[in-house]
Amino acid sequence: LFFINYICNIYNILYKNTNNMRKKIALITGVTGQDGSYLADYLIKKKYFVHGVKRRSSSLNTSRVDHIYQDRFEGKRNFFLHYGDITDAISVSTLIRKIKPDEIYNLAAQSHVSVSFEVPEYTGNADAIGALRILEAIKFHGLENKTKFYQAGTSEMFGKVKEIPQNEKTPFYPRSPYGVAKVYAHWITVNYREAYNIFACNGILFNHESSRRGGTFVTKKIVNALCKIKLGLQKTLYLGNLEAKRDWGHAKDYVFAMWKMLQQKKASDFVISTGKQFTVKQFVNLVLDELKIKYIWKGRGINSKCLIKGTGNKIVSIDKNYFRPLEVDTLLGNSTKAKKELRWKPKYNIKSMVREMVAEEINSLKND
Ligand code: NAP
Ligand code: GDD
Repeated sequence: LFFINYICNIYNILYKNTNNMRKKIALITGVTGQDGSYLADYLIKKKYFVHGVKRRSSSLNTSRVDHIYQDRFEGKRNFFLHYGDITDAISVSTLIRKIKPDEIYNLAAQSHVSVSFEVPEYTGNADAIGALRILEAIKFHGLENKTKFYQAGTSEMFGKVKEIPQNEKTPFYPRSPYGVAKVYAHWITVNYREAYNIFACNGILFNHESSRRGGTFVTKKIVNALCKIKLGLQKTLYLGNLEAKRDWGHAKDYVFAMWKMLQQKKASDFVISTGKQFTVKQFVNLVLDELKIKYIWKGRGINSKCLIKGTGNKIVSIDKNYFRPLEVDTLLGNSTKAKKELRWKPKYNIKSMVREMVAEEINSLKND
């Protein structure tokens, strides 16, 4: 009897260990975007099987994940790309049924605030109902106890802010079709967590940037244009509202927070931010300093312009087309809850982020 017991115990330990050692499976919507690509890098390093959803496009849209792409004929693969679209319930449901992921990160979105005023219906369909499609598929396929869900929420939901700084309890007041859509996604995530006990978390992430940032967001646009000006490839950068204040962090720090949220004992919502705020104009100045360009600002508001000291060359000017029908004037986050419960804190500050963005931009322009 002692011997049988002994063998059973060993078997149990081995069985448990193999189960614990089983590689986790993650599904990332929006894997071809800034955050999706960093998250895929991170999860692959953590030995996950990573499945990413890419949408059909007439031009190549996988440049941010090309470095981890593995051909179908390669032996041991850990990264898989699937066609799908967050506005197409059938593709969403089929992928979830086939992959049965341990963790889903819903990062797919029409993520440009200004563009959301031009395509409000599509933005609502992708950014609001997209989250519902995933949650409903988790429920429909009976995966409530298996699949954890992360929703990519945003500080844009605070919009016309009700308090400074903003935390998890600050009421929402969105100021764009994008912000409104994300508020729906936030509450439907809370609703499915409470109604069906799905492990579902909202990350309320403040602006985060990197060299992989899309070219029409203000930080990347500024870095790209000023680097080109430094190299003599462009004359002037045109911007909109220079006075808007943002709390800018680095995307690598923020995808780590997403993962952390899904590793907690209990699902909850978290603000992720640096707690430091800069205007768009200050961001321009930081980039100019990094590039060692001596400058002087003249005029105010729509008449503001930035000149190279000594030469009078105008390098920054205002174009009113870049102003929005409504603006979010100020965003500043309070991440005390994330610091305490997730033990999360950013590694980058604004200076180290600008330094990295400028270095990578110059490098890529020189290699073009
Ligand atoms: P991003 O670079 O614009 O990436 C968005 C991703 O969603 C891309 O892969 C895009 O595909 C994909 N996508 C768009 N529409 C889709 C659709 N209908 N079906 C499937 N995929 C679709 O955005 P990001 O900066 O990585 O942000 C990731 C998420 O976090 C977004 O939901 C964004 O709203 C949210 N967020 C971002 C920030 C920030 O500061 N970056 C802050 C808070 C929240 P293509 O590559 O084909 O365009
Ligand atoms: N894009 C852009 N282009 N913005 C400009 C420009 C310009 O030429 N000039 C001034 N801005 C101002 C915008 O009016 C805004 O106040 C600020 O710069 C930041 O704009 P974006 O970089 O486009 O980011 P966003 O804050 O509107 O939205 C980003 O952050 C959100 C989180 O707060 C996006 O990544 C959203 O997806 C994200 O949810």
